[in-house]
Amino acid sequence: MRVTHAWTDDAATIHLSGLQRPVRMLHVTDVHCALLDERDARHEDACRDYCQRFAGNERILAERFNEARELGVDLVALTGDIMHFPSRALVDYLARQMEQLQVPVLFTCGNHDWRFPGLSDEEAVREQWWPRLDPLHPGRAGCAACEVNGIQFLQVDDSTYQVDDEQLAWVRERLATGRPTVVLSHIPLSLPTLRAPTIDRWKAPILIGDPDWDQESRERWKAGADRPTTLQYVQLLAGAENLVAVFCGHVHFPHADAVNPRVVQYVGGLGIEGARRLVEFRPL
Ligand SMILES: [Fe+2]
Ligand SMILES: [Fe+2]
Repeated sequence: MRVTHAWTDDAATIHLSGLQRPVRMLHVTDVHCALLDERDARHEDACRDYCQRFAGNERILAERFNEARELGVDLVALTGDIMHFPSRALVDYLARQMEQLQVPVLFTCGNHDWRFPGLSDEEAVREQWWPRLDPLHPGRAGCAACEVNGIQFLQVDDSTYQVDDEQLAWVRERLATGRPTVVLSHIPLSLPTLRAPTIDRWKAPILIGDPDWDQESRERWKAGADRPTTLQYVQLLAGAENLVAVFCGHVHFPHADAVNPRVVQYVGGLGIEGARRLVEFRPL
């Protein structure tokens, strides 16, 4: 499979050998919407400041959906932190927007989508809250797949900085189909070219599989030590012959970095500021 990439901060063109039909995708990430109603009254105190700080962000998301409609894209990829917390008001709002759009919207969890402020970042908490997000994805929140015009899009929730056994086995199985594959996840893979600007912005390499992220800082970010399955996942993606691209967010600035000569990892700009990337997959 031959692949070429060309990009700016808000666009990318990916030429792909063997592709029968073009695919256009709008990539949006980190809009941090904050809406709350009486159904989540017990989280009101914890969310009050965020509801003020992020007031109106849901309209920014609606603008992106309108843009997707006007552009006539084949799919919209949402790569996490679309919601700042999983309120019923937000899940309903987002589910309604997705339904009205009438093109596939692939929703991947970020570290904020499943967690109310004040709750811990543990995986057990994520598992407890995942079911609330059921209206936003077809089936499992940890990993799901969607095929559009011959490209398989894999949604992998890496929002705890780790990938577990089940996700690793599932991604391996999907890659073994040999189909051209695009991975959508929230936290980017640590790559040398992305590491420095991430540390500039966050004072820590808040990325997946970073070999030099010290333990103390990892604990502050609730990242934990890398598990063997996380490191195997990074290796699997770096070596997969049919992987085309990775799309993610989390660090709040746009970037694009080669994983290898065939694969580029695209980091989306901050959705709060209206950033998005229009991606065109074209036959080579
Ligand atoms: Fe974010
Ligand atoms: Fe994030």
